[in-house]
Amino acid sequence: MRTLLRLLEDGEFHSGEALGVALGVSRAAVWKKLQQLEAELGIELHRVRGKGYRLAGPICLLDTVQISDLLRPLLWSVHVHQSLDSTNAEAIRLINERAALPLVVLAEQQTAGRGRRGRTWISPFGENLYYSLGLRIDGGMRQLEGLSLLVGLAVIKTLRNAGISEAGLKWPNDILVGRQKLAGILLEITGDPADVCHVIIGIGININMRTSSSVDQSWTSMRLEKGHLFDRNLIVTSLSKHLAEYLAEHRKDGFARFRKEWEANHLWQGCEVALLAGSSAVQGIVLGVDAAGGLRLSVGDVEQVFSGGELSLRLFEDVPS
Ligand code: BTN
Repeated sequence: MRTLLRLLEDGEFHSGEALGVALGVSRAAVWKKLQQLEAELGIELHRVRGKGYRLAGPICLLDTVQISDLLRPLLWSVHVHQSLDSTNAEAIRLINERAALPLVVLAEQQTAGRGRRGRTWISPFGENLYYSLGLRIDGGMRQLEGLSLLVGLAVIKTLRNAGISEAGLKWPNDILVGRQKLAGILLEITGDPADVCHVIIGIGININMRTSSSVDQSWTSMRLEKGHLFDRNLIVTSLSKHLAEYLAEHRKDGFARFRKEWEANHLWQGCEVALLAGSSAVQGIVLGVDAAGGLRLSVGDVEQVFSGGELSLRLFEDVPS
């Protein structure tokens, strides 16, 4: 299937006969494989009599050899999959099997992509980035402080380098363009956070997705922002390099030195917000973040700090009264 997809990747028409010759199979066998592609991967195929078959548009597949070559200097082990339940789940399985670390897991699609607060992360085939970095953490809790916010900075840098200058952060680690979500980050921890543990840094970036009826929040993609297809392999490499740089600094000095940079990229700095935890809400003005990545709010003129994975921030004007 991979070879067939590579032949169709350009989005141009390819006759059944040419595809058969390239794959060394009959036209009927090509037809069967194409049906399989549609059914198993949810890929949209166009068939025109006299012209052949093409994808709905060009796509950019992950290239294991290219990614491994480009990431070699980092000494990370790379695991690229056609389809996974979740790259975070696979990273956890590999860590439990004592795979070499750090490790990166990538997939063309996720069938059970995990989002924050128990949500599903919609992960169509070949369109976006589904990326998990598994690391060993030796330094206890301090090494985890502000880590998810720091990862947001690495994602922002990657996006800016790719020309998405409007991307910004929303506490704790959403990446938005305006009000629309472009990328999300989900950290998962295994082991004992007070001693030796492993952290899985899961990152989803909407790269080339143009339509989706399944995403239940307002979203955008790099392609929708810029109007052209992005090379997902180059985004993987750029993201990995920026992550490696930020993580090395964070290991040495913690999050405190990144506070100002983070606040400069916070889209809602100085805004009136509501912080939701279950059914209760706190209203305040965003002051910034503290040295551990907690959100500093001015609540009735008193500064309060909030942290925790279950919190959700809204602009006050968007909260129904
Ligand atoms: C969010 O809800 O904002 C976080 C979304 C994180 C999605 C990424 S995609 C790669 C990794 N694997 C997962 O199952 N989730 C994360």
